[in-house]
Amino acid sequence: TAPLRVGIAGLGTVGAGVLKLLATQGDLLARRVGRPMVVTSVSARDRNRDRGVDLSSVRWYDNAVDLASDDQVDVVVELIGGSDGIAARTVETALAHGKHVVTANKALLAHHGTALATQAEAQGLTLAFEAAVAGGIPVIKGLREGLAANQVREVHGILNGTCNYILTEMRTTGRDFGDVLAEAQAKGYAEADPSFDIDGVDAAHKLAILTSVAFGTRVDFANVHVEGIRHISALDIDYAGQLGYRIKLLGIARRTENGIEQRVNPCMVPVGSLIAATDGVFNAVVADSDFADKVALVGRGAGAGPTASAVVADLVDIAIGRRTPTFAVPAGQLAPLTPAPLSAR
Ligand code: HSE
Repeated sequence: TAPLRVGIAGLGTVGAGVLKLLATQGDLLARRVGRPMVVTSVSARDRNRDRGVDLSSVRWYDNAVDLASDDQVDVVVELIGGSDGIAARTVETALAHGKHVVTANKALLAHHGTALATQAEAQGLTLAFEAAVAGGIPVIKGLREGLAANQVREVHGILNGTCNYILTEMRTTGRDFGDVLAEAQAKGYAEADPSFDIDGVDAAHKLAILTSVAFGTRVDFANVHVEGIRHISALDIDYAGQLGYRIKLLGIARRTENGIEQRVNPCMVPVGSLIAATDGVFNAVVADSDFADKVALVGRGAGAGPTASAVVADLVDIAIGRRTPTFAVPAGQLAPLTPAPLSAR
């Protein structure tokens, strides 16, 4: 069968991870999906950086938007990042040219997810984003497919690996906030602008996406209450520990009588709970639903390997023609979100 021709826009941490994964697992994946997946085109700012993979037979574009209209590409993988600008134009152009899109861009989906899903579905195209939320954890597929028979009551969890790494290191080694942040950046966990991590914005982007998948509502980032970890001190962490708690940055989306509450803020979580035990770069997502009851997923929430794993899982879906709505229901049927007032908890 014809190969799936993949164009990758953006070769930073995740893009290089996807190249490496496809190079390593190419044969295995071809057997699983029944056709090879071939990277035919790439775009990146810097052509000369060594990404550990031979790119000599791949078409290079300086501009991702040009890659998005390359007629030898079936799927565009958008790994540029940012809610607007070049990433948005790349995705829109790819869809306008009849190409499926895989993206890890939570900021883009938080701001334009409903519109992009509508554009994709109108043309029978896939817009897939497993990598946008919780790195290597299959949380989108888990909620959307695994809990398809349920009404979800609440989703909550640790959605930012950088913050969880910082809070964990501050607690276990007494290291300074800034030091640990620099290390998280060096490990490729942090956002290009790390204030998105520490001020809770990245977790809020991911929560807005999860809310839509969990409740079948339009993506509504504007109604997420956001508070980060900038003001958390070593003393706070220490006192919480003495009281039997861990401080974790949580994202919480809940269906209430008055609508849907979406919030990101530091929480005191009892020691002994799964969330409290989730340390370092790991994320955890817990969904509470009517028939399945509580379901938890834990794994690495950031980094090249885990995020590439989620990107390629979406490529597998496209390669075998597995189709699902972008969010929980077809985009045209997503309900507007009625925001609930913040609860006192
Ligand atoms: N900066 C993000 C994090 C990357 O630390 O969780 C994964 O989305």
